[in-house]
Amino acid sequence: MPISYYEENKIFHLKAKDTSYIIQIVESGYLQHIYWGKKIRDFKLDYLQPFKGDQFNGFMFTKDKVEGFSLDILPQEYPSFGNTDLRSPAYQIQLEDGSTVSDLKYLSHKIFSGKKKLKGLPSTYVERSEEAETLEITLKDELSGLVVVLSYTVYEDYDVITRSSNLINLGSKDLKVLRALSASMDFSDDDFDLLQLSGAWSRERTLVKRALVSGNQSIESRRGASSPQQNPFIALMRKNADEDNGEVYGINLVYSGNFLANVEVCQYGTSRVQIGINPFDFSWLLKPGEDFQTPEVVMVYSDCGLGKMSRTFHDLYRKRLCRGSYRDKERPILINNWEATYFDFTEESIKNIAREAKKLGVELFVLDDGWFGNRNDDTTSLGDWYVNKGKLPNGLEKLSKDINEIGLKFGLWFEPEMISEDSDLYRAHPDWCLHVKGRERSLGRNQMVLDYSRSEVCDAIIEMLSENLSSNHISYVKWDMNRFMSEVGSATLDANRQRETAHRYMLGLYRVMEELTTKFPEVLFESCASGGGRFDPGMLYYMPQTWTSDDSDAIERLNIQYGTSMVYPSITMGAHVSAVPNHQVHRITPLTTRGDVAMGGNFGYELDVIKMSDEEKEIVKRQIQDYKKIRHIVQFGDFYRLISPFENNDAAWMFISKNKEEVVVSYFKKLAEPNIKLKMLKLKGLDPQMDYRVIETDKIYGGDELMYAGIVIPELKGDFTSYVWTLKKHDKSIL
Ligand code: DGJ
Repeated sequence: MPISYYEENKIFHLKAKDTSYIIQIVESGYLQHIYWGKKIRDFKLDYLQPFKGDQFNGFMFTKDKVEGFSLDILPQEYPSFGNTDLRSPAYQIQLEDGSTVSDLKYLSHKIFSGKKKLKGLPSTYVERSEEAETLEITLKDELSGLVVVLSYTVYEDYDVITRSSNLINLGSKDLKVLRALSASMDFSDDDFDLLQLSGAWSRERTLVKRALVSGNQSIESRRGASSPQQNPFIALMRKNADEDNGEVYGINLVYSGNFLANVEVCQYGTSRVQIGINPFDFSWLLKPGEDFQTPEVVMVYSDCGLGKMSRTFHDLYRKRLCRGSYRDKERPILINNWEATYFDFTEESIKNIAREAKKLGVELFVLDDGWFGNRNDDTTSLGDWYVNKGKLPNGLEKLSKDINEIGLKFGLWFEPEMISEDSDLYRAHPDWCLHVKGRERSLGRNQMVLDYSRSEVCDAIIEMLSENLSSNHISYVKWDMNRFMSEVGSATLDANRQRETAHRYMLGLYRVMEELTTKFPEVLFESCASGGGRFDPGMLYYMPQTWTSDDSDAIERLNIQYGTSMVYPSITMGAHVSAVPNHQVHRITPLTTRGDVAMGGNFGYELDVIKMSDEEKEIVKRQIQDYKKIRHIVQFGDFYRLISPFENNDAAWMFISKNKEEVVVSYFKKLAEPNIKLKMLKLKGLDPQMDYRVIETDKIYGGDELMYAGIVIPELKGDFTSYVWTLKKHDKSIL
């Protein structure tokens, strides 16, 4: 059994594949966090931290003081606010009398097989109840009637622990939730670096590492989306940890809105790690009998550095976060017309691109922004999801059918969360956008955000999109979102509920996505937020791939894809070859390098194939053939990072099939160097006993020598170059 409870010392021991997580019920019913780390057989140590006894160090006690016990040094699982723990609380409620103090204590627990769905929220899941075991610990604050259920799930096949908390008002009076984080845990020391994925539009998920120091260090989003500025992920890394060695604790929130991840290093060098919905500008009125479910947290412990942590996230997310008919299917190679035409296209020009793309081997054509309403630039028509007859006089039904007849599947762009001032929808419903009465409605990319906290708005969008998806031949949807929230308020919420708007918006969005993806199970959905502005597990639950970044420059993409791979598997990362000079950074890179970088993700093109020379078309044809041969390895295999582009003039990564018999290794060099010395690239994850044939050179090497001695990197001439090796198990018996 992965979860055991020992009555004699009141210990819960959660055992994942290679990880233990231990909790104890201690004095007066508080919940002590004891351990998270490498799996141990049993826990016998006495872990209560002894109180040091000097009253001047600030400790306070409850009246029934117990010798050696102080909440302010007790490592806790879900600390309250207002008792004698003066560190950062996991939650805070306000009672009807205005007080904000509460004190949660153990009430009961249960252990059961399987895993419950989280009401209205995305989460990892099980297909059969034997796949996982769940522990629910119920805590209660007697005075207010607040009950908190902490849920922990341990999977049989994935080395993860997931957590969430549910706040329930079992009292007779209203409660206001002011803070409700999903998880909190205390480490007994602060000997860590904090890793985060930070950035901006077009340079998402840059690796940032800093040493923990005394006090709070946090990342957060207040933008109404998880954001490109900070991904809802942190990792605590032991000082000696790196890609392949040392202890790493990865924590990822399954949520797409405002979040906070905070580490508080306290006076005795303990570290309190917390993650959840950002308490800033948040509150939630909880009437008697109501509950508030927090988003799920996925926690991965690795004793072999970041690489093992990432592969654990990848496996779980591929199989037990992403859903739908495309979860286990190879993804189609697409061509998107955005960078080829922007808003300037006709039915004929679209079909011409599609015809040429088909000849090159592309499988899916995606019509991007500009096909609806009167949309000829970004100032109008969001919300008017009917065809732009000026551009597509024969309608979408005909166009999608024609594209199918050319031999390609047809995909369509939507930005369903937005509304343009110049739109029929806005003229009909001027109060359907997020706004605060009497205040200016700020624009971002000339548009406003629809108020998804209102169910009638969500229903209208579901209806409009359903109409499009059922009456045309659409196999793919690109779901875009191009601005953050401002003047966050809803016309229909009471004054004391206005701070619920941002989270209610997320619940509305999740409902819309749930209904549409359920109604159209054969459609492949890809999410996008000006590129990778909402690349998070919440979105992946509904849409199994994300447009990784609007920056399609191959060299920029090395960093972006490398950073993204910390948590998210390659199959989820949309990666396209675009034209040169690149539209974002104006860099000119070889077509082969652009292809090799994009093949590290979910491959496609975003350029005008008509404008390509015959020689370029031949290269594209080859790239597509090559990707079709390797895509099962890239999309479903294990991923190893070999050289970091963040620290070097070169970069490398590799993919290996689960049976270790097929391998793809990609090497990239940014700037040319003179008089270079011989450099070996050491591979990882191979079977040391297996022999591998390198297809490109037809040479055979042992897995052990490829890993321990390495493979020789060929001399590459010029800037922005790349080299790809494909390896296959060499079967001696065939000789
Ligand atoms: C932003 C996206 O990231 C682009 O790929 C493109 O779809 C544009 N929006 C269209 O407006």
